[in-house]
Amino acid sequence: MKVLLFNGSPRKGNTKAALEALKKGLAQQIPEAEVEEILCEGKSIIPCRACDACGSMSRCIFADDSPQINAAVEAADAIVFATPVYWWGMSAQMKLIIDKFYARDRKFHGLKKKIGSIVIGEADQEDPEYGIIAKQFRCIADYLGWETVFQKSYTANKPSDLAADEAALAEIEGLAKLLK
Ligand SMILES: Cc1cc2nc3c(=O)[nH]c(=O)nc-3n(C[C@H](O)[C@H](O)[C@H](O)COP(=O)(O)O)c2cc1C
Repeated sequence: MKVLLFNGSPRKGNTKAALEALKKGLAQQIPEAEVEEILCEGKSIIPCRACDACGSMSRCIFADDSPQINAAVEAADAIVFATPVYWWGMSAQMKLIIDKFYARDRKFHGLKKKIGSIVIGEADQEDPEYGIIAKQFRCIADYLGWETVFQKSYTANKPSDLAADEAALAEIEGLAKLLK
């Protein structure tokens, strides 16, 4: 079983802490899982130009990291999108990568995958941003025929905040079993 984790943050902070907790949970609850983490920051991704060349090539016409990333998406049984909130949305680093799913859109459709999202912002949980972003991830998954198994959001701001939130970390560890 392959689990793919996307980390949308450019810094070693709350998203990283969340994914560390999830990896701990995966090691305990699905020890057979092969876990791959993709740090969106630092990937070479040319923003989608809407040229539609990928429609015939099934890959982006421009040389970037998207074919390897899309291959990892295709192979994964479960995918977790973990991102900080940037301006009521996911980080641009993550969105660039998701836009490139367009090249494999038809191939991705209907592949059996379990999807989770973890969203971390400075605002308290009453802020509409968490619902907006969760809805976006769910729409993407529904469109591709993938099953959403969890959507969680946490409030944290300083890079060390989530690592100090024992209840949040315990909850995230427990999410791992839902990916099976
Ligand atoms: C460019 C930028 C935009 C942000 N926009 C928001 C926002 O709209 N809402 C919010 O709650 N937090 C916002 N934040 C705060 C981050 O979401 C917050 O600090 C989060 O914990 C960062 O996660 P990380 O430590 O994994 O990078 C923003 C931070 C940055 C750098």
